[in-house]
Amino acid sequence: MSLDETAQKPHDRLGAYLACDLERVNALIRERMASEHAPRIPEVTAHLIEAGGKRLRPMLTLAAARLCGYDGDHHIRLAATVEFIHTATLLHDDVVDESRQRRGRPTANLLWDNKSSVLVGDYLFARAFQLMVEPGSLRVLEILSNASATIAEGEVLQLTAAQDLRTDEGTYLKVVRGKTAALFSAATEAGAVLAGADDTEVEALFTYGDALGIAFQIADDLLDYGGTTAAIGKNVGDDFRERKLTLPVIKTVAKADEAERAFWRRVIEKGDQREGDLEQALRLMARHRAMEATRDDALGWAERAKQALVALPAHDLRDMLADLADYVVARVN
Ligand code: IPE
Ligand code: IPE
Ligand code: MG
Ligand code: MG
Repeated sequence: MSLDETAQKPHDRLGAYLACDLERVNALIRERMASEHAPRIPEVTAHLIEAGGKRLRPMLTLAAARLCGYDGDHHIRLAATVEFIHTATLLHDDVVDESRQRRGRPTANLLWDNKSSVLVGDYLFARAFQLMVEPGSLRVLEILSNASATIAEGEVLQLTAAQDLRTDEGTYLKVVRGKTAALFSAATEAGAVLAGADDTEVEALFTYGDALGIAFQIADDLLDYGGTTAAIGKNVGDDFRERKLTLPVIKTVAKADEAERAFWRRVIEKGDQREGDLEQALRLMARHRAMEATRDDALGWAERAKQALVALPAHDLRDMLADLADYVVARVN
């Protein structure tokens, strides 16, 4: 490995390896996010898409397809499909979460309004469905359409679990598997299926995507308390303000004494949040070592992701996917 390669983050290394494909994916995204009749659509989509984004999910599709020996063109369409689904869910999610910052920019709901975000999100979802049909594979269509339903299901489950202190780690896992991991696993599985991989390889890539997505979301939930706004491009403390029962909170509440439970009831159940409450929540998390325990869970899922790759043939991309699993949780070290 050259010095240059070791200096790069796994995510950048994967991006460099897949650069030609990614360029085509970006071109296709730009082409399909256009609209002939409604100028609001390209305004909103350009704002979000040109802000960048890590393009993690399309890279997973491209990597899975290539790793399984695919040499056609349809993986470009599937990669664009998953990024469209992702972008649509972000537009909707920022409305639901009343978020003000995304990818280091003001959210579309803040710059325009909720109506524009919901409707442009719908448009992008529909564009995703048009794209996912094009490879002409019913199996691929099934994977991606199922994932779309599962994501929405996860977001709705989270909605009803929020503000409920009884939410446990089992429910949290269901939420995370649905709202986040479903698209990661669909991205990898669809790539493998497109390539005509055998059942073992398809299952390995599905399992990798599922575990990677869970590790990624747990890390994201940690950063909502332990990160900085500059580093994550979103506002820190959003989950607390939204009264969400994410893993660091669930672990802290599980160890709370009576006085601490009264605090959590006030801020999470009643939503009576005052100056200094976020800091108090952070102190309680530190007291019960909830951040460390959450980080250990994320590391455990990253390990499972890497384990799944063992079933795949040796390949540069396989090694990069393994490094990526380490990287998504290294963000929280
Ligand atoms: C954000 O995903 C939504 C979550 C699942 C936490 P990313 O962090 O991959 O978003 P972008 O595309 O890079 O902005
Ligand atoms: C991300 O969920 C949206 C989806 C996975 C659908 P979150 O609400 O937890 O993520 P951020 O913090 O807004 O990116
Ligand atoms: Mg959100
Ligand atoms: Mg959300």
